Amino acid sequence: MIGALARAVNRLRGTRESPSSLASPSAHPTERRRVDLRKAINAVSDVVQNRPRPLRVFDQIHMKTGDMVLQSEMIADWADGKRLAFIGDGDAISVCVAYLKARGVLTFGPSHITVFDFDERTVEAVMNFADREGIPNLDARLYNVLDAMEPGELYDCFYTNPPWGASNGGESVNAFVERGMEATGHIGEGVVVIADDDDLPWPKQVLANVQRFASEHGFYVSKMQRKLHEYHLDDAPELKSCNLYLAALPQNQPPGLSAPITDPNRLENFYGLSQRPTVRYVRARKRLDYGVAHEDEYELEWLDRGSE
Ligand SMILES: C[S@@+](CC[C@H](N)C(=O)[O-])C[C@H]1O[C@@H](n2cnc3c(N)ncnc32)[C@H](O)[C@@H]1O
Repeated sequence: MIGALARAVNRLRGTRESPSSLASPSAHPTERRRVDLRKAINAVSDVVQNRPRPLRVFDQIHMKTGDMVLQSEMIADWADGKRLAFIGDGDAISVCVAYLKARGVLTFGPSHITVFDFDERTVEAVMNFADREGIPNLDARLYNVLDAMEPGELYDCFYTNPPWGASNGGESVNAFVERGMEATGHIGEGVVVIADDDDLPWPKQVLANVQRFASEHGFYVSKMQRKLHEYHLDDAPELKSCNLYLAALPQNQPPGLSAPITDPNRLENFYGLSQRPTVRYVRARKRLDYGVAHEDEYELEWLDRGSE
């Protein structure tokens, strides 16, 4: 298992560009990339234990754990020393990236991470984990991408793994990308994780539309890593996603104040066919310990011990 992952990491490294403009210039590339895979996998396993269960109706579909390890390392490298905003993050890549650095498994990573998600369970899981593990540079806010973004401190880069837009040509992806661009003041970089499949027509349409949207907003595609991740997706277990890297053009201008997204054409089929967004927040009913079985999942049938 570890050998296979190590080979996969090496294969990915072979296809990656050597340190990007975001990488720390002082670090030696070969030294900073040495990762203890056992420690990395076990750290990601801690995060997975803490993750709320996915709600399929909102397109929450979790990335498989091996791919989370590789993805976290890549994102930590890409955003080394930067302020990183996650626009939605049910996968908990944000937590993995922060935790791997806090644990010393990675010697590089973002200086600060904020997760914006409309699911209070996710927000609480991130905050509780950061609190328990003493990770001061990780936080989370309850936020719906259909609402305007509050003006605040800007981020250097954003990451999003949005609803993939199979039934709306990628409009749902573009809503998340728009908020990511706003989080960077339209002058940063971003990674968009979306479907990538040679045999299906819709992922190609979505990729084309997202790239067009990026271009219309003063961003260009700086890199694409194809077919990297697999998901716990019953009806399409083979479907993979790519990392699409966006970067702002020089002197890119913010188009104006952030505004709510209300155009019905942008909201149609947002979470899949006939699934318009109708929910502002998913509220957590009670604080759950996600790593252990819940009481309503089982009942006990006692041993018959006679007169004991
Ligand atoms: C839509 S899922 C995409 C699949 C991804 N693998 C995952 O499960 O995280 C990504 C995240 O976006 C969040 N999300 C969905 N709709 C949202 C909205 N309208 N505003 C903010 N976050 C949203 C979900 O709660 C989830 O955490």
